[in-house]
Amino acid sequence: MSGAINVLGLESSCDDTAAAVLRAENGKSGILSSVVHSQTDLHARFGGIVPEIAARAHAEKLDVVTREALGQASMDLSSIDLIAVTAGPGLIGGGLAGVSFAKGRAAALDLPMVGVNHLAGHALTPGLSNGLAAPYLMLLVSGGHCQFLIVHAADRFTRLGGTIDDAPGEAYDKVARLLGLPQPGGPSVEEAAKSGESARFALPRPLLDRPGCDMSFSGLKTALLRLRDRLIADQGGLFVQDRSDLCQGFQAAVVDVMAEKTRRALLLAGERLGTAPPLAVAGGVAANAEIRAALNQVAEDCGVRFVAPPLSLCTDNAAMIAHAGALLFGSGHKDGMDLVARPRWPLARVSPALLGGGRKGAKA
Ligand code: KG4
Ligand code: ZN
Repeated sequence: MSGAINVLGLESSCDDTAAAVLRAENGKSGILSSVVHSQTDLHARFGGIVPEIAARAHAEKLDVVTREALGQASMDLSSIDLIAVTAGPGLIGGGLAGVSFAKGRAAALDLPMVGVNHLAGHALTPGLSNGLAAPYLMLLVSGGHCQFLIVHAADRFTRLGGTIDDAPGEAYDKVARLLGLPQPGGPSVEEAAKSGESARFALPRPLLDRPGCDMSFSGLKTALLRLRDRLIADQGGLFVQDRSDLCQGFQAAVVDVMAEKTRRALLLAGERLGTAPPLAVAGGVAANAEIRAALNQVAEDCGVRFVAPPLSLCTDNAAMIAHAGALLFGSGHKDGMDLVARPRWPLARVSPALLGGGRKGAKA
C-alpha cells in the first residue's frame, strides 16, 4: 500500500480503553481523532486496578470508543486501511480484549493488522507530537513504566536502565495514600509540595552512589512512611504543613535522582551513538512541572534538544499506538490471526536491570 493511509489505533493494556484515527504518510501522522475512556472510577474504591474488572470494562467499551473515534474523524470502518492494536505488555485480560476486537474487525473487513508494543507506542510519541526524528533518548516514566531507551527506529530500541523496583508514578501514588491525599497521587503530591519546605525532611537519593542509570523508588516511600509515623507518634497526628513538607522532601529526592540518572543516560547514549542525542520524555509522570523543568535543565546543560509531548499524548492513548503501527507497517511488519496478547514484552532484548512487579501488573 503506498500513499496516505487511515489507521485505527486501539489501546486496552491497562486502565484506559482508547481508540484513535490517524492519517499517516511517509512516517508522519496527523491525528484525526483520539478518544480515551478512563476506568479510574471503576477501580477507585479498591485502591488499585482489579484485572477482572478492567478486562470486562475494556471488552464493553472498545466498540464504544471505536465508534466515537470514527465518528469524530467523520469516517466509518470502510475508510480504514490498517488496524494497530496494543498486544502487550500489560494486563492480559485487557490485551486479549483489544487483540480479539482488532482481529474481528480485521477479518470482517479484510484489513491488515499490526500488534504494537505499548512501550514502543510511548517511546515513538515524540515523532508524532513534535516530529522528532530518531535517534533520541527516551525517559519513559509512568505509573507502570520507568526506563531509559535509545530509540533507533520503530522496531529498534536499546534499554540503558530503569527502575529496579517501583515505577515513579507508583511511588507518587503510594505516598499520596500514606498521607491521605487523593488518587492519582502524582498531581496531589505535586500540589501539596508547592507549599512545602524541601529542607525539613532529607529523604535518601537511592542508587546515586552506583554507576549507571538504574533507579529505585520503593525505599523513598518507606523512608517517608517512617518520617510520617514518627511525626504521628510525637504530635498525635499530621498538620497540613507536615504533609506539604513531606511531599516536597519526597519530590525533591525524585527530581534529583531522575535528573542525575538522565544526565548519565545521555552520556551513555552519546557514547553509543557517537554524539549525545535529543532527550524526550513520556508517561504520566512527565506531567510534573518540577520533573519537566529538571529534565529541561539537564538537556540544556548537555547541549541537546528537550521534547516533552503534550500531556494527552504522554499518558495512555491510542494515537501513539496508531502512529507506531503505521511506522511498523511502513517498514514491512504485519500480523496475522495468530497474533497473541503478551503480559510481558520487553522492548529491547538486552536488559541490564531487573524490573519488579508493580501496581499495574507486569512490566517489560
Ligand atoms: O501514563 P499514565 O497515565 O498511566 C500509566 O501508568 O500507564 O501515568 C499515570 C501515573 C500515575 O501514577 C500518576 O500518579 C502519575 O502518572 N502522575 C504524576 C503526575 N500526574 C500523573 N506523577 C507525578 N506528578 C504529576 N503531576
Ligand atoms: Zn503506558
